[in-house]
Amino acid sequence: MKRLLASYGRDDEFRAIAEQIIVEEEKKNNKVLARTLRKSLENGSSSSWPRSMKSLAPLIPFPDAAKDFVERVEPTHTTKDVVLSASNTRVFISLLKEFRRTEDIQRKGLPVRSKLLFCGPPGCGKTISAEVFAAELGLPMFGVKLDQLISSYLGETASNLRKIFDFARKQPCVLFLDEFDALARSRDDSSEHNELRRVVNSLLLFIDRLRPQGFLIAATNLDHALDSAIWRRFDEVIWFDKPDEQLISRFLRMKFRNVATAFDVTTKADELVGFSYAEIERVCIQAIKSTVIEKRKDVRERDFNAAILDERRRKAGRSRLAAQS
Ligand SMILES: Nc1ncnc2c1ncn2[C@@H]1O[C@H](COP(=O)(O)OP(=O)(O)OP(=O)(O)O)[C@@H](O)[C@H]1O
Ligand SMILES: [Mg+2]
Repeated sequence: MKRLLASYGRDDEFRAIAEQIIVEEEKKNNKVLARTLRKSLENGSSSSWPRSMKSLAPLIPFPDAAKDFVERVEPTHTTKDVVLSASNTRVFISLLKEFRRTEDIQRKGLPVRSKLLFCGPPGCGKTISAEVFAAELGLPMFGVKLDQLISSYLGETASNLRKIFDFARKQPCVLFLDEFDALARSRDDSSEHNELRRVVNSLLLFIDRLRPQGFLIAATNLDHALDSAIWRRFDEVIWFDKPDEQLISRFLRMKFRNVATAFDVTTKADELVGFSYAEIERVCIQAIKSTVIEKRKDVRERDFNAAILDERRRKAGRSRLAAQS
Protein backbone atom coordinates (compact mmCIF):
# COMPACT_ATOMS: atom_id res chain seq x y z
CA MET A 1 0.00 0.00 0.00
CA LYS A 2 2.87 2.35 0.86
CA ARG A 3 4.44 1.78 -2.53
CA LEU A 4 1.09 2.26 -4.22
CA LEU A 5 0.56 5.63 -2.58
CA ALA A 6 4.13 6.72 -3.28
CA SER A 7 3.62 5.96 -6.98
CA TYR A 8 0.71 8.41 -7.27
CA GLY A 9 0.94 10.33 -10.52
CA ARG A 10 3.29 7.81 -12.20
CA ASP A 11 0.73 5.81 -14.01
CA ASP A 12 2.80 2.83 -15.17
CA GLU A 13 4.30 2.26 -11.75
CA PHE A 14 0.90 2.70 -10.10
CA ARG A 15 -0.62 0.08 -12.41
CA ALA A 16 2.19 -2.37 -11.89
CA ILE A 17 1.90 -2.17 -8.11
CA ALA A 18 -1.90 -2.38 -8.23
CA GLU A 19 -1.59 -5.51 -10.44
CA GLN A 20 0.76 -7.02 -7.87
CA ILE A 21 -1.71 -6.39 -5.07
CA ILE A 22 -4.48 -8.01 -7.10
CA VAL A 23 -2.36 -11.09 -7.83
CA GLU A 24 -1.50 -11.38 -4.13
CA GLU A 25 -5.18 -11.24 -3.22
CA GLU A 26 -5.94 -13.89 -5.85
CA LYS A 27 -3.27 -16.11 -4.34
CA LYS A 28 -4.80 -15.65 -0.89
CA ASN A 29 -8.05 -16.85 -2.46
CA ASN A 30 -9.76 -13.50 -1.89
CA LYS A 31 -11.45 -13.83 -5.25
CA VAL A 32 -14.22 -11.31 -4.78
CA LEU A 33 -11.84 -8.62 -3.55
CA ALA A 34 -9.40 -9.36 -6.37
CA ARG A 35 -12.17 -9.15 -8.94
CA THR A 36 -13.48 -5.86 -7.51
CA LEU A 37 -9.99 -4.38 -7.44
CA ARG A 38 -9.36 -5.41 -11.01
CA LYS A 39 -12.66 -3.91 -12.06
CA SER A 40 -11.78 -0.64 -10.33
CA LEU A 41 -8.42 -0.62 -12.05
CA GLU A 42 -9.99 -1.22 -15.44
CA ASN A 43 -12.40 1.49 -14.34
CA GLY A 44 -15.97 0.93 -15.31
CA SER A 45 -15.83 0.32 -19.05
CA SER A 46 -19.55 -0.43 -18.79
CA SER A 47 -20.23 3.04 -17.43
CA SER A 48 -22.12 5.51 -19.55
CA TRP A 49 -19.39 8.08 -18.89
CA PRO A 50 -16.37 8.11 -21.15
CA ARG A 51 -13.38 6.06 -20.01
CA SER A 52 -11.32 7.68 -17.33
CA MET A 53 -8.05 9.43 -18.00
CA LYS A 54 -5.24 6.95 -18.35
CA SER A 55 -2.83 9.00 -16.29
CA LEU A 56 -3.52 10.51 -12.92
CA ALA A 57 -2.72 14.12 -12.24
CA PRO A 58 0.53 14.67 -10.36
CA LEU A 59 0.13 15.75 -6.79
CA ILE A 60 2.26 18.71 -5.85
CA PRO A 61 3.46 18.97 -2.26
CA PHE A 62 0.79 20.58 -0.15
CA PRO A 63 1.69 24.26 0.07
CA ASP A 64 1.78 25.55 3.59
CA ALA A 65 -0.23 28.62 2.73
CA ALA A 66 -3.36 26.71 1.76
CA LYS A 67 -3.13 23.70 4.03
CA ASP A 68 -5.38 25.13 6.72
CA PHE A 69 -8.13 25.87 4.26
CA VAL A 70 -8.32 22.88 1.93
CA GLU A 71 -8.63 19.17 2.56
CA ARG A 72 -8.33 16.17 0.32
CA VAL A 73 -11.64 14.46 -0.44
CA GLU A 74 -11.26 10.76 -1.22
CA PRO A 75 -13.85 9.51 -3.70
CA THR A 76 -16.15 6.89 -2.21
CA HIS A 77 -18.65 6.70 -5.06
CA THR A 78 -18.52 5.82 -8.74
CA THR A 79 -20.72 6.63 -11.72
CA LYS A 80 -22.80 3.58 -10.86
CA ASP A 81 -23.91 5.27 -7.63
CA VAL A 82 -25.23 8.46 -9.19
CA VAL A 83 -28.47 9.14 -11.00
CA LEU A 84 -28.31 12.14 -13.29
CA SER A 85 -30.90 13.69 -15.57
CA ALA A 86 -30.25 13.21 -19.28
CA SER A 87 -29.30 16.85 -19.71
CA ASN A 88 -26.82 16.83 -16.82
CA THR A 89 -25.26 13.62 -18.12
CA ARG A 90 -24.80 15.36 -21.45
CA VAL A 91 -23.13 18.37 -19.84
CA PHE A 92 -20.74 16.22 -17.78
CA ILE A 93 -19.76 14.09 -20.75
CA SER A 94 -19.08 17.14 -22.86
CA LEU A 95 -16.97 18.68 -20.05
CA LEU A 96 -14.98 15.47 -19.71
CA LYS A 97 -14.32 15.31 -23.43
CA GLU A 98 -13.35 18.96 -23.51
CA PHE A 99 -10.94 18.53 -20.60
CA ARG A 100 -9.22 15.66 -22.35
CA ARG A 101 -8.62 17.79 -25.43
CA THR A 102 -7.50 20.86 -23.46
CA GLU A 103 -4.24 21.25 -25.36
CA ASP A 104 -5.81 20.95 -28.80
CA ILE A 105 -8.53 23.43 -27.89
CA GLN A 106 -6.10 25.93 -26.40
CA ARG A 107 -3.79 25.61 -29.38
CA LYS A 108 -6.65 26.94 -31.48
CA GLY A 109 -6.91 29.89 -29.10
CA LEU A 110 -10.22 28.70 -27.66
CA PRO A 111 -11.10 28.67 -23.97
CA VAL A 112 -11.74 25.42 -22.06
CA ARG A 113 -14.64 25.42 -19.59
CA SER A 114 -13.27 24.97 -16.10
CA LYS A 115 -15.40 26.96 -13.66
CA LEU A 116 -18.68 25.31 -12.74
CA LEU A 117 -21.50 26.40 -10.49
CA PHE A 118 -23.76 23.66 -9.06
CA CYS A 119 -27.17 24.85 -7.85
CA GLY A 120 -30.17 23.09 -6.40
CA PRO A 121 -31.94 21.95 -3.26
CA PRO A 122 -30.15 19.92 -0.56
CA GLY A 123 -29.61 16.22 -1.11
CA CYS A 124 -29.94 16.25 -4.89
CA GLY A 125 -26.41 15.32 -5.89
CA LYS A 126 -24.18 18.39 -5.99
CA THR A 127 -21.46 17.01 -3.75
CA ILE A 128 -21.65 13.40 -4.92
CA SER A 129 -21.51 14.51 -8.57
CA ALA A 130 -18.45 16.70 -7.93
CA GLU A 131 -16.76 13.73 -6.32
CA VAL A 132 -17.57 11.30 -9.13
CA PHE A 133 -16.66 13.90 -11.76
CA ALA A 134 -13.22 14.37 -10.15
CA ALA A 135 -12.68 10.61 -10.10
CA GLU A 136 -13.67 10.34 -13.77
CA LEU A 137 -11.26 13.14 -14.66
CA GLY A 138 -8.49 11.36 -12.75
CA LEU A 139 -7.98 14.50 -10.66
CA PRO A 140 -7.67 14.75 -6.90
CA MET A 141 -10.48 16.64 -5.23
CA PHE A 142 -9.93 19.24 -2.56
CA GLY A 143 -12.71 20.71 -0.49
CA VAL A 144 -12.47 24.20 0.93
CA LYS A 145 -12.86 24.35 4.71
CA LEU A 146 -15.21 27.28 4.93
CA ASP A 147 -15.25 27.51 8.71
CA GLN A 148 -11.48 27.96 8.72
CA LEU A 149 -11.53 30.25 5.73
CA ILE A 150 -14.01 32.77 7.01
CA SER A 151 -12.16 34.75 9.58
CA SER A 152 -13.51 37.17 12.11
CA TYR A 153 -10.44 39.33 11.56
CA LEU A 154 -10.93 42.19 9.23
CA GLY A 155 -9.49 41.56 5.80
CA GLU A 156 -8.28 38.07 6.59
CA THR A 157 -10.99 36.15 4.73
CA ALA A 158 -9.96 37.73 1.44
CA SER A 159 -6.32 36.93 2.03
CA ASN A 160 -7.22 33.33 2.94
CA LEU A 161 -9.18 33.12 -0.27
CA ARG A 162 -6.15 34.27 -2.23
CA LYS A 163 -4.14 31.35 -0.81
CA ILE A 164 -6.77 28.89 -1.99
CA PHE A 165 -6.91 30.33 -5.48
CA ASP A 166 -3.09 30.28 -5.66
CA PHE A 167 -3.29 26.62 -4.77
CA ALA A 168 -5.88 25.89 -7.50
CA ARG A 169 -3.69 27.66 -10.03
CA LYS A 170 -0.78 25.31 -9.35
CA GLN A 171 -2.39 22.01 -8.40
CA PRO A 172 -4.25 20.10 -11.11
CA CYS A 173 -7.39 19.26 -9.16
CA VAL A 174 -11.07 19.75 -8.65
CA LEU A 175 -11.35 22.50 -6.07
CA PHE A 176 -14.75 22.23 -4.44
CA LEU A 177 -16.23 25.29 -2.78
CA ASP A 178 -19.30 24.08 -0.94
CA GLU A 179 -21.87 26.47 0.56
CA PHE A 180 -20.65 29.05 -1.88
CA ASP A 181 -23.46 31.43 -0.87
CA ALA A 182 -21.66 31.98 2.44
CA LEU A 183 -18.95 33.77 0.46
CA ALA A 184 -20.78 35.12 -2.55
CA ARG A 185 -23.77 36.69 -0.84
CA SER A 186 -25.26 39.61 -2.65
CA ARG A 187 -23.47 42.87 -1.96
CA ASP A 188 -26.89 44.60 -2.05
CA ASP A 189 -28.05 42.70 0.99
CA SER A 190 -28.29 45.54 3.50
CA SER A 191 -27.70 43.19 6.42
CA GLU A 192 -24.23 42.47 5.11
CA HIS A 193 -21.42 44.60 6.40
CA ASN A 194 -18.48 46.04 4.52
CA GLU A 195 -16.17 43.13 5.21
CA LEU A 196 -18.43 40.79 3.26
CA ARG A 197 -18.64 43.27 0.44
CA ARG A 198 -14.87 43.23 0.27
CA VAL A 199 -14.85 39.44 0.26
CA VAL A 200 -17.29 39.32 -2.66
CA ASN A 201 -15.19 41.82 -4.59
CA SER A 202 -12.04 39.76 -4.03
CA LEU A 203 -13.86 36.57 -4.90
CA LEU A 204 -15.05 38.01 -8.21
CA LEU A 205 -11.53 39.07 -9.03
CA PHE A 206 -9.98 35.74 -8.07
CA ILE A 207 -12.51 33.74 -10.08
CA ASP A 208 -11.97 36.02 -13.07
CA ARG A 209 -8.22 35.59 -12.98
CA LEU A 210 -8.18 31.90 -12.24
CA ARG A 211 -7.13 29.58 -15.04
CA PRO A 212 -7.34 26.33 -13.11
CA GLN A 213 -5.40 23.26 -14.19
CA GLY A 214 -8.52 21.30 -13.43
CA PHE A 215 -11.87 22.62 -12.30
CA LEU A 216 -13.26 25.05 -9.80
CA ILE A 217 -16.66 23.81 -8.68
CA ALA A 218 -18.80 25.98 -6.43
CA ALA A 219 -22.02 24.61 -4.97
CA THR A 220 -25.00 26.28 -3.36
CA ASN A 221 -28.60 25.58 -2.46
CA LEU A 222 -29.30 29.26 -1.95
CA ASP A 223 -28.85 30.45 -5.50
CA HIS A 224 -31.24 33.39 -5.02
CA ALA A 225 -28.83 34.83 -2.42
CA LEU A 226 -25.87 34.94 -4.80
CA ASP A 227 -24.50 38.23 -5.99
CA SER A 228 -25.73 38.88 -9.52
CA ALA A 229 -22.17 39.47 -10.75
CA ILE A 230 -21.20 35.92 -9.81
CA TRP A 231 -23.15 34.08 -12.49
CA ARG A 232 -21.23 35.17 -15.55
CA ARG A 233 -17.91 34.27 -13.93
CA PHE A 234 -18.81 30.61 -14.32
CA ASP A 235 -18.44 28.78 -17.61
CA GLU A 236 -21.29 26.43 -16.80
CA VAL A 237 -24.18 26.46 -14.34
CA ILE A 238 -25.56 23.01 -13.60
CA TRP A 239 -28.92 22.54 -11.85
CA PHE A 240 -29.56 19.58 -9.61
CA ASP A 241 -33.30 19.34 -9.11
CA LYS A 242 -35.45 16.95 -7.16
CA PRO A 243 -35.97 13.81 -9.25
CA ASP A 244 -39.10 13.18 -11.30
CA GLU A 245 -40.90 9.83 -11.30
CA GLN A 246 -38.66 8.31 -13.94
CA LEU A 247 -35.44 9.29 -12.18
CA ILE A 248 -36.86 8.07 -8.86
CA SER A 249 -37.54 4.66 -10.48
CA ARG A 250 -33.93 4.51 -11.64
CA PHE A 251 -32.70 5.51 -8.20
CA LEU A 252 -34.87 2.85 -6.50
CA ARG A 253 -33.64 0.17 -8.89
CA MET A 254 -30.10 1.22 -8.08
CA LYS A 255 -30.63 1.18 -4.32
CA PHE A 256 -32.26 -2.25 -4.44
CA ARG A 257 -29.90 -3.80 -6.97
CA ASN A 258 -28.49 -6.17 -4.33
CA VAL A 259 -31.56 -6.47 -2.11
CA ALA A 260 -34.39 -8.99 -2.43
CA THR A 261 -37.87 -7.48 -2.44
CA ALA A 262 -41.32 -9.04 -2.31
CA PHE A 263 -42.71 -6.30 -4.57
CA ASP A 264 -41.68 -4.12 -7.49
CA VAL A 265 -40.06 -1.07 -5.83
CA THR A 266 -40.48 1.09 -8.89
CA THR A 267 -44.26 1.08 -8.35
CA LYS A 268 -43.51 3.33 -5.36
CA ALA A 269 -41.86 6.03 -7.45
CA ASP A 270 -44.99 8.17 -7.84
CA GLU A 271 -45.42 8.37 -4.04
CA LEU A 272 -41.92 9.78 -3.69
CA VAL A 273 -42.23 12.71 -6.07
CA GLY A 274 -41.25 15.85 -4.16
CA PHE A 275 -38.58 14.03 -2.13
CA SER A 276 -34.86 14.65 -2.62
CA TYR A 277 -32.52 11.76 -3.46
CA ALA A 278 -31.13 11.91 0.07
CA GLU A 279 -34.65 11.60 1.51
CA ILE A 280 -35.50 8.68 -0.77
CA GLU A 281 -32.24 7.05 0.19
CA ARG A 282 -33.24 7.32 3.84
CA VAL A 283 -36.57 5.64 3.04
CA CYS A 284 -34.74 2.77 1.30
CA ILE A 285 -32.30 2.32 4.17
CA GLN A 286 -35.08 2.29 6.76
CA ALA A 287 -37.10 -0.25 4.78
CA ILE A 288 -34.09 -2.52 4.34
CA LYS A 289 -33.15 -2.16 8.01
CA SER A 290 -36.55 -3.28 9.22
CA THR A 291 -36.14 -6.48 7.20
CA VAL A 292 -32.81 -7.10 8.91
CA ILE A 293 -34.24 -6.41 12.35
CA GLU A 294 -37.12 -8.79 11.79
CA LYS A 295 -34.82 -11.36 10.20
CA ARG A 296 -36.77 -11.57 6.98
CA LYS A 297 -35.26 -12.44 3.63
CA ASP A 298 -36.89 -9.77 1.53
CA VAL A 299 -38.21 -6.26 1.88
CA ARG A 300 -42.00 -6.17 1.93
CA GLU A 301 -44.15 -3.38 0.62
CA ARG A 302 -45.35 -2.83 4.19
CA ASP A 303 -41.78 -2.01 5.34
CA PHE A 304 -41.37 0.42 2.50
CA ASN A 305 -44.72 2.13 3.17
CA ALA A 306 -43.82 2.55 6.85
CA ALA A 307 -40.48 4.12 5.88
CA ILE A 308 -42.24 6.56 3.52
CA LEU A 309 -44.61 7.55 6.33
CA ASP A 310 -41.67 8.16 8.65
CA GLU A 311 -39.96 10.36 6.10
CA ARG A 312 -43.19 12.32 5.51
CA ARG A 313 -43.52 12.91 9.24
CA ARG A 314 -39.96 14.17 9.38
CA LYS A 315 -40.53 16.46 6.39
CA ALA A 316 -43.77 17.80 7.87
CA GLY A 317 -41.97 18.70 11.09
CA ARG A 318 -39.37 20.58 9.16
CA SER A 319 -41.91 22.56 7.13
CA ARG A 320 -43.73 23.47 10.37
CA LEU A 321 -40.48 24.82 11.80
CA ALA A 322 -39.77 26.78 8.63
CA ALA A 323 -43.26 28.31 8.73
CA GLN A 324 -42.78 29.41 12.35
CA SER A 325 -39.46 31.13 11.76
N1 LIG B 1 -28.32 12.29 -7.97
C1 LIG B 1 -28.04 11.40 -7.01
N2 LIG B 1 -27.75 10.14 -7.33
C2 LIG B 1 -27.48 9.24 -6.36
N3 LIG B 1 -27.47 9.52 -5.04
C3 LIG B 1 -27.74 10.77 -4.68
C4 LIG B 1 -28.03 11.78 -5.63
N4 LIG B 1 -28.26 12.92 -4.98
C5 LIG B 1 -28.11 12.64 -3.66
N5 LIG B 1 -27.80 11.36 -3.48
C6 LIG B 1 -27.60 10.70 -2.18
O1 LIG B 1 -27.82 11.65 -1.15
C7 LIG B 1 -26.61 11.96 -0.46
C8 LIG B 1 -26.48 13.46 -0.33
O2 LIG B 1 -26.27 14.02 -1.62
P1 LIG B 1 -25.29 15.25 -1.89
O3 LIG B 1 -24.34 15.36 -0.74
O4 LIG B 1 -24.69 15.11 -3.22
O5 LIG B 1 -26.34 16.43 -1.85
P2 LIG B 1 -26.09 17.96 -2.11
O6 LIG B 1 -26.87 18.34 -3.32
O7 LIG B 1 -24.63 18.23 -2.13
O8 LIG B 1 -26.79 18.60 -0.82
P3 LIG B 1 -26.38 19.90 0.05
O9 LIG B 1 -26.93 21.09 -0.69
O10 LIG B 1 -27.08 19.67 1.34
O11 LIG B 1 -24.90 19.92 0.19
C9 LIG B 1 -25.49 11.37 -1.31
O12 LIG B 1 -24.40 10.93 -0.51
C10 LIG B 1 -26.16 10.22 -2.00
O13 LIG B 1 -26.16 9.09 -1.16
MG1 LIG C 1 -23.37 19.13 -0.73
